Amino acid sequence: MRKLAAGNWKMNGSAAALAEVKALIAAHPATSCDMLLCPPATLVARMAEVATGSALSVGGQDCHAQGSGAHTGDISAQMLVDAGASHVILGHSERRADHLETDALVQAKTIAAQAAGLTAIVCVGETEAQRDAGKTLAVIGGQLDGSLPPDMNRPDALVIAYEPVWAIGTGRTPTLDEVAEVHAHIRAAVINRYGAAAQGMRLLYGGSVKASNAAAIFALPNVDGALVGGASLKAADFAPIVAALTQA
Ligand code: PGA
Repeated sequence: MRKLAAGNWKMNGSAAALAEVKALIAAHPATSCDMLLCPPATLVARMAEVATGSALSVGGQDCHAQGSGAHTGDISAQMLVDAGASHVILGHSERRADHLETDALVQAKTIAAQAAGLTAIVCVGETEAQRDAGKTLAVIGGQLDGSLPPDMNRPDALVIAYEPVWAIGTGRTPTLDEVAEVHAHIRAAVINRYGAAAQGMRLLYGGSVKASNAAAIFALPNVDGALVGGASLKAADFAPIVAALTQA
């Protein structure tokens, strides 16, 4: 399986930031892993233009479950494809918190994204209170049950990102054992749901990944890449993470 280094720019970046994209492409003209940036919707088309012919793929950070219609402010999976995207992040904890997205809505979006030809990156993760209460695996299991599509389609068209909510943007990470435990749980859950082919599904870790901790995380079993927020904004921060994944 080709591993995946994915960057989530969140609500950051304007046209000037495309210089960072050019620098990233220059640092990694070819990669043995997949390299993806998900900028805000305003930049998807322009970033895709910059990335044409390079090793970089471009994705969205969300999409609507329907293809078109009266949904002011939303964008559909087809529109992302039209803008040059190949991936979309769905069910990020910030969308679950800020926009009250439920597992059922994330599932509907995932089905729509795959139908449009996008690779869906479905995010799951526990809060600190849930971890402290010993509920991490149950919470993740419930989110997977509710958010994943009934059919996997191709194993490479569905990616799961485990992102503990308390590790996002905080500089804190779970221990390596804790990451490995959750990833083993997710692997077992997707094999149970989709069969042995889900062995080839990419499982990403996300939450305060940076150049200094990437290699240790990537060495863990069932960790097939990362979803990176803050450290994906600058080529100087993201390029070494991509390099660590190519060496994992
Ligand atoms: P972070 O964000 O790398 O800034 O912690 C990760 C994410 O939310 O995807």
